[in-house]
This record gives sequence, C-alpha cells and structure tokens, in this order.
Amino acid sequence: MSEAADQIFATLKQSSQSGAPLYLQLRKSIEDAVNRGLIGPGDALPSERDIATKADISRVTVRKAVQDLVKGGILVQRHGSGTFVAPRMERVEQSLSRLTSFTEDMARRGMAVRSAWLDRGLYAPSPDEMMVLGLSSNELVARVSRLRIANDTPLAIERASLSASALPDPAGIGSSLYAALELTGNRPVRAVQRISAANLGDADARLLEVPPGIAGLHIERISYLASGKVIEFTRSIYRGDAYDFVAELRLTGPSEEGRP
Ligand code: GLP
Repeated sequence: MSEAADQIFATLKQSSQSGAPLYLQLRKSIEDAVNRGLIGPGDALPSERDIATKADISRVTVRKAVQDLVKGGILVQRHGSGTFVAPRMERVEQSLSRLTSFTEDMARRGMAVRSAWLDRGLYAPSPDEMMVLGLSSNELVARVSRLRIANDTPLAIERASLSASALPDPAGIGSSLYAALELTGNRPVRAVQRISAANLGDADARLLEVPPGIAGLHIERISYLASGKVIEFTRSIYRGDAYDFVAELRLTGPSEEGRP
C-alpha cells in the first residue's frame, strides 16, 4: 500500500494547519482512506515510525490515532506482525418472521457452520430458568452454550436452557439443537424474540474476536411447542457488525384492525 499510504499521510501534512488535534486528523485520514477503498481489508499499515516520518508528527500521536481505530474495529493489531485494516464483515440479513435455526439460516446462505462448545450439561435451574421453563426446584435444566461460527467468523454466543425432560443428554445433540429436538418431537413451532442493544463485555468480545465495548445485540428467544409449553429459553449475544435483523411490516387493513 505504499503509494496509497504516501497519499494519505502527505495529505495530512498539508492539512495539519486546520486546528483539530493531530491524532484526530490522522485518525480521520486513515478512516477516510478505508471508506474510500484506498486501503482495503487485510492491507498492512506502515510502521508507527514510518507514519510519523511521512506525516511529520510524533510517534505518540500516531499510536493514539491507531489505538482509537483498533478500539473502533477499523484496524486490527497482530502481535509481532503489525497493524492491518480489519476484515470487512459480510452482514447477515436475518428475517424476524421465520422460526429457523442457526444451522438452517447459515446453510441457506451457503455458509459453512460450526460451533465451539462453551458448556453443556444438566444443572440445578436458576430462578430465571425455573420461571420461564416452568421447572420446580427439584427438576434439572439442560444447558447448551455454544460459540456459533460461520465461514470461520464467530457470529454469536448462544446459551440455551431447556428442561432436562426434553433434552436429557445435552452432550448428544450433534451440530444442531433444533435437529435434535425435531427427532424427539420437541422442535418449537412458535417463539417470542426480544432484541436489545448491548456493549460487549471483555469475555464475550474475546470469544467473538472484536474489541471489548463494541456494540452487539442481546437476543432472548422463548420458544413454544404446539401444546403451548415453553421448550427453549435462549440468551444470545450477536456481533452488531455482522447482523441486520429485518422485519416486514404491513399496513393493517380495516378488517384486520383490532385483531391480536
Ligand atoms: C437460533 C436461535 C436459538 C436456537 C438456535 C438453534 O440461533 N437464536 O434460540 O437455539 O437457532 O440452532 P441450531 O439448531 O443450529 O443449534
């Protein structure tokens, strides 16, 4: 990227009279260069020292700008090998009206799915789990917690709780929870999903390979069997930079108004 780099940093040199702190000017120049495609995902940035020389500013200023951009997810730093433009996430567009599984959603997009296990087993239920799943304190809850990965990119952390009577062997579900539930006639037919914004904590950010504090989506799904019984209570954290949830809205006709 040496030509592009020269251009970015030379421009900074010319415009550095504008009054804004230098690190902000440098941050903006790099951000603009990424947005305009002058430097692209995976491109290496010159070393701190080279940037400082090219832009005629101090290395401390360069470090401050670069650290800000790493925090914002624009750049990534790899120990020993340098600073790079972060890989661009292909955003996943997810319908909010279909009750599908993660495996099905990704397969429909031709993405290769895998999961890393975070937890699976039978436990004494928490008060939340007892309330949502209708369990008493002497019953057990099955917990299935996974990091969900599509095309080698970690997209979500999903922590599912089910009654142990519906899922007596959480370790045996294979790659899809819904496929396992289908086999025993326990696949949900309806779900209520609540989505809220969340800033990712350190541990979740590390698993999702994003900077801590970055925006994410907290999703809670409560799924029901045809009988009306709750079968699944899942709390998930999705990467905010990877997902667009899409809902179709229709104008309610007069005949439908007031209907639930
Ligand atoms: C989605 C839902 C989860 C559900 C999961 C099942 O991601 N948000 O609530 O547990 O799908 O996916 P799979 O059948 O691939 O394990």
